Amino acid sequence: MNKFIIKGGETLNGEVNISCAKNSVLPIIAATILCGEKCTIKNCPMLLDVFVIGDLLKSMGADIDIDFNTGDMKIDTSNIKNTEPDAELVRKMRGSFLIMGPMISRYGKFKISLPGGCNIGTRPIDLHLKGLKALGVDIKIGHGYVEGKASKLLGDRIYLDFPSVGATENIIMASVFAEGETIIENAAQEPEIDDLIDFLNEMGSDIKKIETGAIIIKGVKKLRGIKYRPIYDRIETGTFIIAAAITKSKIKINGIEEKSIKPMIAKFCEMGINMEINEKDLIIDGRNELRPVDIKTMPYPGFPTDMQAQIMSLLCCTKGTSVITETIFENRFMHVPELKRFGANIKIDGRSAVIMGVNEFLGCSVRATDLRAGAALILAGLVAEGETQISDIYHIDRGYVNIEKKLRKLGAKIERTKE
Ligand code: EPZ
Repeated sequence: MNKFIIKGGETLNGEVNISCAKNSVLPIIAATILCGEKCTIKNCPMLLDVFVIGDLLKSMGADIDIDFNTGDMKIDTSNIKNTEPDAELVRKMRGSFLIMGPMISRYGKFKISLPGGCNIGTRPIDLHLKGLKALGVDIKIGHGYVEGKASKLLGDRIYLDFPSVGATENIIMASVFAEGETIIENAAQEPEIDDLIDFLNEMGSDIKKIETGAIIIKGVKKLRGIKYRPIYDRIETGTFIIAAAITKSKIKINGIEEKSIKPMIAKFCEMGINMEINEKDLIIDGRNELRPVDIKTMPYPGFPTDMQAQIMSLLCCTKGTSVITETIFENRFMHVPELKRFGANIKIDGRSAVIMGVNEFLGCSVRATDLRAGAALILAGLVAEGETQISDIYHIDRGYVNIEKKLRKLGAKIERTKE
């Protein structure tokens, strides 16, 4: 199994190019099932999760061709026959659930293995199923599978108890061909939802968002295959902003959507990080003294839970006391014991972590427990004195394209080795 070896203490300089968003690309790849034609996802991030959902579609009969030079992922879903995807593949990644909506829309049925637990929480799908039932889907759960069947899909008004990203995406994709109109209230507002809506509308859907945030989908007859470039990855952007701040460096980040990073920028400015934001790039100057802040993760446009671990690494090295409250997932503090191995001073109290800034981190051996926790450990290693070894880095490869190459290009001393 691979490891990252980091020699801490280097300042960073130069430019980094952000990849397209994992959490946009996954629902968009699932949505290609709806058109039954050829689609090309341009600039597709070459991530483990992207390969897993590609394998999932292939196991159902789709043709997938990835051009590693151009980053284009060509998908032809015209020959999908199998509506019961491989259970092993489904359990590999939570994003697999995003095929339920497209499958019920195109084939009127699906049978998919129930979610395995995942490190950061139980990850239920009750809100996904509530929405599908409202559209007329008959849901059966048993023997570790969830099965859906619908002879006809009828638009309905659906109120989400929680603005679940995945449930919003699945319900949108389940209603694109439904008769009449579907209204999703208390829908998730993440930028990746807007990207999916743009992708579906370019394919010929009729979806719009009103000022209350509700999403209205008018059923159409057919969708066509298109070429599409997803938005940049706001979480990768935030991760590199923290890399600059934690190493007290000045770098340029190419590939941003200002609106999608606003919630994070507000918090970084509160800490005293200097940023100059342009149309498609930003310059971050992390060389000045930073201030401690309190953070509460919330659904968009709140501070993103996917940035919680990374900013915790920064706050551990920021003089003063900070408090982070994680309101989205019930078990997203697994990076805390690992950060303590560097010398961090963190006390967990229920959903909150109280962080007292320390003067230095000492390099050590740590283990990535999940995707964003792994990113937090890299950030800690960049500033730790001496050598840091990070194992189980397959978690990190799920969501970051060649992160060690991008960091090395900025001057960090980080290598990927075979364990
Ligand atoms: C998406 O997960 C993202 N993944 C996650 O990113 C992200 O953390 C999360 O949204 C929140 O922003 C992808 O887009 C592939 P949710 P998702 O449904 O859709 C509860 C990363 O690091 N819930 O908004 O699974 C659930 O338990 C990953 O890139 C229900 O109770 O998130 C959780 O507490 C991690 N019932 C909360 O809602 C449901 O039916 C948020 O879940 C669905 C969710």
